[in-house]
Amino acid sequence: GRVAVVYGGNSAERPVSLNSGRAVHAALVSAGVDAFLLDLYGPDGNLNPIQQLQAAECDRVFLILHGRGGEDGTIQGMLEMMQIPYTGSGVAASALGMDKLRSKQLFVGAGLPTPPFKVLRDQDDLSTCVAELGFPLMIKPAHEGSSIGMHKVSNAEQLAEAWQDACRYDQCVIAEQWVTGSEYTVAVLNDKALPAIKLETPHDFYDYNAKYEADDTRYHFDHGLSSEQEQRLLRLAEQAFSAVGCLDWGRVDIMQDQQGHFYLLEVNTTPGMTDHSLVPMAARQAGISFEQLVVEILREAE
Ligand code: DAL
Ligand code: MG
Repeated sequence: GRVAVVYGGNSAERPVSLNSGRAVHAALVSAGVDAFLLDLYGPDGNLNPIQQLQAAECDRVFLILHGRGGEDGTIQGMLEMMQIPYTGSGVAASALGMDKLRSKQLFVGAGLPTPPFKVLRDQDDLSTCVAELGFPLMIKPAHEGSSIGMHKVSNAEQLAEAWQDACRYDQCVIAEQWVTGSEYTVAVLNDKALPAIKLETPHDFYDYNAKYEADDTRYHFDHGLSSEQEQRLLRLAEQAFSAVGCLDWGRVDIMQDQQGHFYLLEVNTTPGMTDHSLVPMAARQAGISFEQLVVEILREAE
């Protein structure tokens, strides 16, 4: 049947989704799938999303919306009600995966390591947080992706500014203890970890610019982990995926400190799928082409 590649959306990550959607669509078409692009909030979208999907008359949806309104369970719930099969995680896992605070609470509940954190509700929380966690801190809007609204801070003045800025994106802002060490990402396909990628940026952290714009970001598969450490990293990613209740595919971001301990940052239920993105990179390393990857993700939509 016909497959709608639902992309775009109206979150802060719309530009990323436009790229992911085009890449997924092209690969599905080249694999012989009857697929078309559907931008839910596109320039000519005077219908609401439900009307647009009804008008589209599709049999399945490949969901490649990033961020709020698309990766957070809302579209998933709508598709459940419309009885249209879709790719990836269901309603609850999408909502929880989009919420960094609840994800961290689930990790803690499952006995999985995640950096210590605190919710910043008001001015008073800023000083308590410094007393409890110390500097540097990572300030994050709880429901954003692609590092939007995130800041690394090393003193009270920076903290106050970062908190103000993060509040522009979200009512819920968290402070997380900074982990000095290395950043890894682990793609998951069919609930199994693909080879881990180590990310290296000369900037403070792997921010929006490092993700999509800079050409000085380095990606390594030969990351110098012992095979025992690598196995621990991959298992941790699968455990995080399962703790949040995710399905089929996604990506888990993990830090390693200088003593070698791993800490979960978050899971992404609809990670970037541009041809420069990390999930396709990990798949390629495992011998899976971009085309095979999207066909595999679609196969699970039921
Ligand atoms: N939120 C972006 C799209 C990612 O995780 O890849
Ligand atoms: Mg994310």
